[in-house]
Amino acid sequence: MAVQTNTRVLLNKVRGILQFIQKRHRVKTKWAATSPKLSATDLALQNHDVMYNMQLGELWPSVRVGLLTEQKYGALVNNFSCDDTVMYLQSLGCQDFIASSLHMEGSKAADSVIPPYSESLQFDQPIEGTYTDLTRASISPNVKCFVFPKGDISRFKPARPDSCGYLSYYLMDAASVLPVLALNVQKGQSVLDLCAAPGGKTLALLQTQAIRFLWANDWSGSRMSRLQRTLKSCLPSELCSEDNLCITSLDGRKWQEVGENGTFDKVLVDVPCTTDRHSLVEEDNNIFSRSRTKEKQSLPLCQTQLLLSALQAVRVGGEVMYSTCTLSQLQNQCVVEQAMSLAKEELGISAEVVDLQPFTALFQDTFYFAPDMNVGVMVLPHLTANFGPIYFCKLRRLS
Ligand SMILES: C[S@@+](CC[C@H](N)C(=O)[O-])C[C@H]1O[C@@H](n2cnc3c(N)ncnc32)[C@H](O)[C@@H]1O
Repeated sequence: MAVQTNTRVLLNKVRGILQFIQKRHRVKTKWAATSPKLSATDLALQNHDVMYNMQLGELWPSVRVGLLTEQKYGALVNNFSCDDTVMYLQSLGCQDFIASSLHMEGSKAADSVIPPYSESLQFDQPIEGTYTDLTRASISPNVKCFVFPKGDISRFKPARPDSCGYLSYYLMDAASVLPVLALNVQKGQSVLDLCAAPGGKTLALLQTQAIRFLWANDWSGSRMSRLQRTLKSCLPSELCSEDNLCITSLDGRKWQEVGENGTFDKVLVDVPCTTDRHSLVEEDNNIFSRSRTKEKQSLPLCQTQLLLSALQAVRVGGEVMYSTCTLSQLQNQCVVEQAMSLAKEELGISAEVVDLQPFTALFQDTFYFAPDMNVGVMVLPHLTANFGPIYFCKLRRLS
């Protein structure tokens, strides 16, 4: 009996010691400490895979490959350069995608008879011809952007100063020129570029040589310095006088405090976004890094506030171009719809979405446009024409 009791006590002791040892050496799943840390670019890809698989369905795999492959650039010709830039770019085998789309005879673009209220009305043009003719006629002939042919992945050399000291071209995503073209700046108009830095679209706006007064603003002082350097390296100083150019570094969400409301003919609002291509390749300053989670989550609110400012800044009858470089519906269509409804409810400003189909029809040989977009248009990246993503939507202020 005593032996049995001793054995039981001993067994219990051994069990206790084993449990103690097991506890000490147990492998706990401590996610925060032991799971491999995902980089910001990994997190961006995870996000894109979940969100855009849902949003784009069977288009997503090819867009994904495009996004992960080197982007294609366009060379925006600087009209103020002394060199024959057009001849040089043509000698490389490039084509000005704007001129070639505008001169296209028997365009593939779907011509339709213009409805009673078209873009042409604001330019005092006679209501004749087709939507496509009028759209073509309203696009600035001064903006020239050269690209290598579809499927050709050659790259441009960085631009060098010409004999007058100006850069002969500026490299940018060729699709970024589209929102500027679609804004249709006409001779003598005043334009506000609310989020302007580092300045590619500002430069494209100035190449129209139609603007009477341009106000370029960006909240970031350092990025604004980059914009100023770009303008200085491309434009004659008389073009940058106080009479025709104003440069500020203000929070665009508080534009109404500036007191310039209802004054501009055109407003471009190229908002901060998740920069879907950049966030897949660049760790530095990546919006998907864990330290910027809150900022990322608040983007749609910031974008809505910026678009509301733009709608306040533009005159009745004037137009606002909202643009981003993300595929995200939450930052694109949802922001536009939300801003339009808030503008009406809170500010008494009504606006309509301008149909950009006749415009995009002109450029369908150069870019892949997303099908079935209800609000705005989107350039999708594709291996054979790896531009974008660029979303843009034009709003006309009605009251
Ligand atoms: C997509 S980038 C603009 C790119 C520019 N339009 C171009 O073509 O070079 C967005 C810009 O918005 C600016 N931004 C962010 N928040 C802003 C705010 N509250 N007001 C004004 N600008 C803001 C950022 O500094 C950034 O330069």
